[in-house]
Amino acid sequence: MELLIEKIKNEGTVLSSSVLKVDSFLNHQIDPRLMDEIGKEFAGRFAHSGITKILTIESSGIAPAVMTGLRLNVPVVFARKRKSLTLVNDLITASVYSFTKEENSEISVSSHYLSEDDRVLIIDDFLANGQAALGLAEIANKAKATVAGIGILIEKGFQDGGSTLREKGYRVESLAIISSLENGLVSFEQPTTETKVELTR
Ligand code: G4P
Repeated sequence: MELLIEKIKNEGTVLSSSVLKVDSFLNHQIDPRLMDEIGKEFAGRFAHSGITKILTIESSGIAPAVMTGLRLNVPVVFARKRKSLTLVNDLITASVYSFTKEENSEISVSSHYLSEDDRVLIIDDFLANGQAALGLAEIANKAKATVAGIGILIEKGFQDGGSTLREKGYRVESLAIISSLENGLVSFEQPTTETKVELTR
């Protein structure tokens, strides 16, 4: 998706050979127009997948998930990472290992908002090792819902999340795939070409 790739080129900062900072439009400040376009793009890609529900995880997945839900006219459920005062009963949970934090955390969704009739589209901001997406898929599976697809804004193609999910048979649609962040340069994988851009900040 050219618009997202341009935004990354213009505003992204390479923090290390494995981490891209995009706080100005996704992880801290949010660009609503970009999120709207992203919602439109995912809605187009999954228009014929019979999606009945979007499933994401707090916090950065929520904005693009809501815009996608708006376009597909379906509700959006987000998994919680912490216990909530009101979310106490009938929880479906999954354990998610974070390679960055080197710890397991439990994510949860109320069983009231997912059922065996649902065809779920999982949306998340980054795909690194795929643990968050796998945890969300596990929750959908526990609810006996069908995972119809996984939509990712930024996939880091040099980490193994994408191949893990695709090998499991999931349809993964990533709007921007980064092939490398080495030497402060961001390289994008595209279906036919690969471009390299130097980020100055
Ligand atoms: P995984 O789910 O693919 O296995 O990812 P991992 O555990 O490595 O990532 C943990 C957190 O770091 C997630 O956000 C994920 O979105 C984010 N993340 C991973 N790689 C990058 C990166 O290169 N840049 C940025 N900006 N984020 C990255 P989180 O802690 O759940 O944060 P949030 O959703 O509350 O913002």
